[in-house]
Amino acid sequence: MALLPILHYPDPRLHTRASPVTVVDESIRQLVSDLEETMRAAEGIGLAATQVNVHKRVIVLDISEDQQHLQVFINPRLISSDGQVEREEGCLSVPGIYDRVTRADRVVVEALDRDGRPFTVQAEGLLATCIQHEMDHLEGKVFVEYLSQLKLNRIRTKLRKRARETL
Ligand code: NI
Repeated sequence: MALLPILHYPDPRLHTRASPVTVVDESIRQLVSDLEETMRAAEGIGLAATQVNVHKRVIVLDISEDQQHLQVFINPRLISSDGQVEREEGCLSVPGIYDRVTRADRVVVEALDRDGRPFTVQAEGLLATCIQHEMDHLEGKVFVEYLSQLKLNRIRTKLRKRARETL
């Protein structure tokens, strides 16, 4: 396992559209392990491969209290969505920024697990929000891009300033 560096907004590589995984092999399982380790070390509840500059359609998340229930989505595909809910979101690629985003309240998603087996999940609440947030990463979209241009400009300025200070 390895800890991978996480890209920070506004790094343009976060806007890369990820490619589908063609075969779920050992290299993909290694990527899943590395994503899990990186997410847990950063105390996040979700991480997309895009965020570690690997542009493959792989997501991990764990929204459980005990942080012992990893969920892996390879080539996730949205089958249906329903309802609307506004929830506060954060992102390991946008450290220290939290804001409210409106998304579907319920989603049905198909994906492959870490053994390449297809599964379907019907998600609602926090899980539905997380899945949509992480699937956005695979399309090159970061949650702050749902906010107003004014807020987005403020966030970009703040993060650029912080990046300079930590160099
Ligand atoms: Ni994120």
